[in-house]
Amino acid sequence: MSLMESLKWRSAVRNFDLAKKVSKNDLESLLEAGNLTATSMGLQPFKIVVVDNEELQKQMVSLSYNQQQVADASHILIFAIDTNVNQENIDAYIDRVVEVRGVKEEDLEGYKNSVSNYLSMMDQDTKLQWATKQAYIALGTVMTVASELKIDSCAMEGFDSLQYQELLNLGSKELMPVVILPIGYRSDKEQMASLPKVRKTRDNFVIEINESEPVEFK
Ligand SMILES: Cc1cc2nc3c(=O)[nH]c(=O)nc-3n(C[C@H](O)[C@H](O)[C@H](O)COP(=O)(O)O)c2cc1C
Repeated sequence: MSLMESLKWRSAVRNFDLAKKVSKNDLESLLEAGNLTATSMGLQPFKIVVVDNEELQKQMVSLSYNQQQVADASHILIFAIDTNVNQENIDAYIDRVVEVRGVKEEDLEGYKNSVSNYLSMMDQDTKLQWATKQAYIALGTVMTVASELKIDSCAMEGFDSLQYQELLNLGSKELMPVVILPIGYRSDKEQMASLPKVRKTRDNFVIEINESEPVEFK
């Protein structure tokens, strides 16, 4: 199946087959895809927490507006942002560049300073929003790769972030869940997936600015 066909096949699945588990290999591919995602300045200010635990997943239902898919899915991927992005993150990134690319730390001094300056201009709220945007890029990448692997998923914002943080003891790691992705395989009960996709028409979605359709200045 082409990537475009996979994107058309993908649907937000709410009815997962309890008996079907995503293989370790496929799970690793999804996590690697999340890790390969581009992020602002390369800082990756989030982690993916993998939950594969029947008991915890059952408890998550009531923390997710009673959405049953969190209990039935094979795994729950939780995209959790760093709540304390600071100089340590930048230093860790620089150390990693040195390790992976074998470059000298002093050669990265200019880049390090520009990243520090950029982050220092953000207040805490802005930093959390910035980190959340990065996590959502990874969410999109993981969903796309999942569709290529014919793994179903359902992006979810409908959950209580603070209660998830508490349940999974993520506060101690300075992490805050922002969006979650149950993954697995659709059950026979899933009906939405076979319905045509509802999307804007192209004309209502794309605005073209070029020589033949220039911007109209007032
Ligand atoms: C960021 C995000 C959050 C979402 N939150 C939920 C959710 O909490 N519960 C749910 O059932 N679906 C959720 N959805 C699924 C959307 O409702 C669904 O993607 C949309 O209706 C389009 O349908 P499709 O994905 O099947 O094409 C979410 C989707 C995204 C991208």
